Amino acid sequence: MLDRALQAARDQRETSQADLFELIRIPSVSALSEHAADCRHAAEWIAARLQAAGMKVELADVAGDGRRHPVIAAEWMEAGPDAPTLAIYGHYDVQPADPLDEWVSPPFEPSVRDGFVYARGSDDNKGQVMCAIRAAELALANGQLPVNLRFLIEGEEEVGGPSLPQFVKTNAQRLRTDYLFIADGQFTAPGLPNLLTGLRGLLYTEVAAVGASADLHSGIYGGVAPNPLNTLAHVISALKGRDGRVTVPGFYDGVVPPQERELEDWRRLPVTEEEQKQALGVTALEGEAEFSPLERRWARPTLDVHGILGGFQGEGQKTVIPARARAKISMRLVPDQDPDRIFDTFAEYVDSLSTPGVRITATRLSSGRAVRTGTDHPGVEAASRAFEAAYGARPVLVREGGSIPVTVDFQEALHPHLLVTGFGLPGDALHSPNEKYSLDQYFRGIEMVLHLMENLRHAPRA
Ligand code: BES
Ligand code: MN
Repeated sequence: MLDRALQAARDQRETSQADLFELIRIPSVSALSEHAADCRHAAEWIAARLQAAGMKVELADVAGDGRRHPVIAAEWMEAGPDAPTLAIYGHYDVQPADPLDEWVSPPFEPSVRDGFVYARGSDDNKGQVMCAIRAAELALANGQLPVNLRFLIEGEEEVGGPSLPQFVKTNAQRLRTDYLFIADGQFTAPGLPNLLTGLRGLLYTEVAAVGASADLHSGIYGGVAPNPLNTLAHVISALKGRDGRVTVPGFYDGVVPPQERELEDWRRLPVTEEEQKQALGVTALEGEAEFSPLERRWARPTLDVHGILGGFQGEGQKTVIPARARAKISMRLVPDQDPDRIFDTFAEYVDSLSTPGVRITATRLSSGRAVRTGTDHPGVEAASRAFEAAYGARPVLVREGGSIPVTVDFQEALHPHLLVTGFGLPGDALHSPNEKYSLDQYFRGIEMVLHLMENLRHAPRA
């Protein structure tokens, strides 16, 4: 029993909260190079914590080109060769905080309102990573860690970066583990935890359109000058029909529909279409009408534009034909779509949709395949009982639409029993202004991880 560690978790909630706030205050935005030093700072902060807790810690610069962020690999193997090994994955990087003027309190200054801490990264993923870090600290401090433990924490999750995937491949032998726990998601409904059976993949592209050699007067040249922004609008509108079907040739090749059993389970979930509209603040949901909203979010591929850059963005009017424009476009992928093949087809397709005088090129920023996880291993019962002890409810088996790209690399290199879940709540506003994380979920999450460690004590090795 981890009785002393559990008691300490309850006694030390203020410390746990202060620790989380310290990490949140480091603005580790992986996408923006001006925050590279902050990413390193966050990595060093976590490494120092795990080292102080008694773990052997390595801070690895894998790609080492200055645009990459360190990987933290920590281990404590003193439970002995017969005890199972539990690895814990998480990420310290966060999404950019914009639009800044929509935040009620500054994004990197934790602010508590109604039991939630508001800040970028509070839920995704610092608040969840800290559940595991605090659990490890408490178990070790009380001499009660029953399993061998590893942490693999990265700073490029939010940009689909290569460092951890490469690190895992290169070090597969010495990173071997029986169980791999990932808390980087959210409950299906308040009070209803989950274990994920699948995640969507992601193919992220930037599409550039180039016209004249310089910006032009739209009165003098309008009517003959190619306008790359007009062209991008044509291209983008051709990529997806109003019925939600993506038009990229061969896009749906290989799509494996969910099992009827799975769909049946999803229909029984306490999540209504009405609630989903309300959560979004919209009067209608878009997408393929023949699939339910949950099926569209979890098991159907789709395409979205994230930003369009180019032309005049200032106050008032300027009559200019921009020389160039760009768009950020991604595709969410499901089993068994092939991102490599889809990228090639996409690049050809957007080029074919161009208009005279405009050159279109697509660049791949990152890609990762969809994930399916097995749920027929003993870790599932261990995690279910841990959820029950900490939150008073057993998890449902569902999928999620978000992506955790390195999961595939873990599966291929380490073949662990995978447990993918989350301690966030629906409505935590991930990637949005006013992201938040429930402190009650946080404190219970720490206890959940302690129970999981205990429940895995005698679990079979993978
Ligand atoms: N935590 C999310 C993924 C997620 C969200 C899983 C909700 C389950 C439920 C993760 O941090 C994330 O946002 N990933 C990115 C990855 C991408 C940038 C390569 C994503 O899905 O957009
Ligand atoms: Mn995220």
